[in-house]
Amino acid sequence: MCGIVAYIGPRDAYPLLMKGLHRLEYRGYDSAGVCLLNDDLRVFKCKGKVSDLEDFVAGSDVSGNIGMAHTRWATHGEPNTINAHPHLSQNKTLAIIHNGIIENYTVLRSELKNRGYTFTSDTDTEVLVHLIEDIMINEHVSVEEAVRVALNEVIGAYAIVILAKDFPDKIIAARKGSPMVIGVGKDEFFIASDATPIIEYTNNVVYLNDEEIAIIERDHEIQIRTILNQKQTPYIEKLAMSLGEIEKGGFDHFMLKEIYEQPHSIYDSMRGRLHVDQGIVTLGGIRDWEQKILNAKRIIITACGTSWHAGLVGEYLIEDFARIPVEVEYSSEFRYRNPVLGEDDVVIAISQSGETADTLAAIELAKSKGATVLGICNVVGSSIARATHAGIYTHAGPEIGVASTKAFTAQVAVLTLLGLLLAQKKGTISQTEFQKILIELDRIPAKVQQILELSQKIKDIATIYKDVKNSLYLGRGYNFPVALEGALKLKEISYIHAEGYPAAEMKHGPIALIDELMPVVFIATRRGIYEKVITNIEEVKARKGRIIAIVTEGDETVKALADHWIEIPDTLEALIPLLATIPLQLLSYHIAVMLNRNVDQPRNLAKSVTVE
Ligand code: AGP
Ligand code: GLU
Repeated sequence: MCGIVAYIGPRDAYPLLMKGLHRLEYRGYDSAGVCLLNDDLRVFKCKGKVSDLEDFVAGSDVSGNIGMAHTRWATHGEPNTINAHPHLSQNKTLAIIHNGIIENYTVLRSELKNRGYTFTSDTDTEVLVHLIEDIMINEHVSVEEAVRVALNEVIGAYAIVILAKDFPDKIIAARKGSPMVIGVGKDEFFIASDATPIIEYTNNVVYLNDEEIAIIERDHEIQIRTILNQKQTPYIEKLAMSLGEIEKGGFDHFMLKEIYEQPHSIYDSMRGRLHVDQGIVTLGGIRDWEQKILNAKRIIITACGTSWHAGLVGEYLIEDFARIPVEVEYSSEFRYRNPVLGEDDVVIAISQSGETADTLAAIELAKSKGATVLGICNVVGSSIARATHAGIYTHAGPEIGVASTKAFTAQVAVLTLLGLLLAQKKGTISQTEFQKILIELDRIPAKVQQILELSQKIKDIATIYKDVKNSLYLGRGYNFPVALEGALKLKEISYIHAEGYPAAEMKHGPIALIDELMPVVFIATRRGIYEKVITNIEEVKARKGRIIAIVTEGDETVKALADHWIEIPDTLEALIPLLATIPLQLLSYHIAVMLNRNVDQPRNLAKSVTVE
């Protein structure tokens, strides 16, 4: 996936495009490039980050008030300068930036080669720009018509922006599968992969739909056509995001800011839904679908990465509270597995970004089999939010750090509410028990705040373990997904190998890894199968493993066994993931900072994976 931004209007395009690219850099940072259109298409691009591009461009003429820019996460072709976007057509009359994958690019490439086109890059993208030019020349059609014809030949996913040398007052944008938002200002337009580059200038936006082409011209209204040439009326929506939400606000990294936002983001995700005084939970977004869920034969949760971990917590919660069978599937497996699915199934897709390609494909598959599909998304108006029948937003606010933190706890908070709502309606929980959980859920934000105050202690532990090469994270029951999430956080931002396991599974293999160099992080809170976890800790200790334990306040037993411990406030077993995850996020963060890693943009990763 990549970040795309484009501008047409009275302002100087270059500074605006660079600012936009910085905001989109979470989406990919293999290379960056910009194209400005005056009398000619001026392209500057280089390997590396947006700041490398700025250094590269310094001193050049970057004037102009129409342009586009790109930050790349390579799918086809090495992350080098040649493969960086924008790509020019053979006659250098068109320039393209692209986010997505042209799946049939090999066929198109060889056809175009036969027709005399020369390819300079290894990207799939380049075929598209040559193809459009070829159509313009042979069929004598306008650039927008050529784009439309070309897109009918393309298999795959795209968000593209095209600039044409001969049309200096026009931008063509189109999408299928990859996101694209158009900001509508006074006499100016902004086009971007998400709203963050736009918010500062306008909050009027049009979300382009799949297979739609937007023709954006100076001094004209936006025109939208589908690739089948049907005219569409642009629907202008208001953005709810604020600029402050997407800036670091005094923190060294977005990730740290987002970790510290959790008391609020969890609270915001429950606000207006958790009514302790009335003893009820309401979820407006799925009200009309409640009966369907209550009657479901089973619920299937589908997601990727951290959202999949939240899904696992959801499985424990919904089965525990509402006694509805739940399965949790990796979207990437589910979509290709020919799953047994029907009208009695409810599929819940979880996604922070709402753009993950595999999760989107899983949704389409589930819909085609007649299942009801609900979404738990953070980004309002995102593709997943729009592709699902209904859903619940997480309200965590924009998450910029590539490593997901506040989105995870917000997802778990929403899944807890969902489990409770279903349980109450189904009568699988007594009102006393229900009320007890509501009261405790209400206290979670304050308890998260208490844990954040342990940051210095966690940093001290990080100093001791920052140079290890491997580590294990173990937990049982509700703490098993927490172990997986803790290990993923460490891996992705510190590059230290970490494995999450159900604690009891350790003796079926990973125990062979344990020696005096191996740190084992135990999530050993005093609820659920606590005694069994103590046995697992003893087993590690007997083999001289080094133990870092997340323990419940006042628990002397585990403290006596562990080399290091982090005490977190007590809560009900089902709510522990909302607390136990926090110290693990901080541990990874401090280690990554000490190792000088790029915390917010770890290598090889991207925030929303819009390619499969
Ligand atoms: C989390 O830290 C990851 N970077 C990643 O696993 C992420 O959770 C995954 O790509 C899913 O993204 P989504 O929630 O936006 O669908
Ligand atoms: N496929 C294009 C490339 O590799 C775009 C990448 C993307 O959107 O991930 O350059």
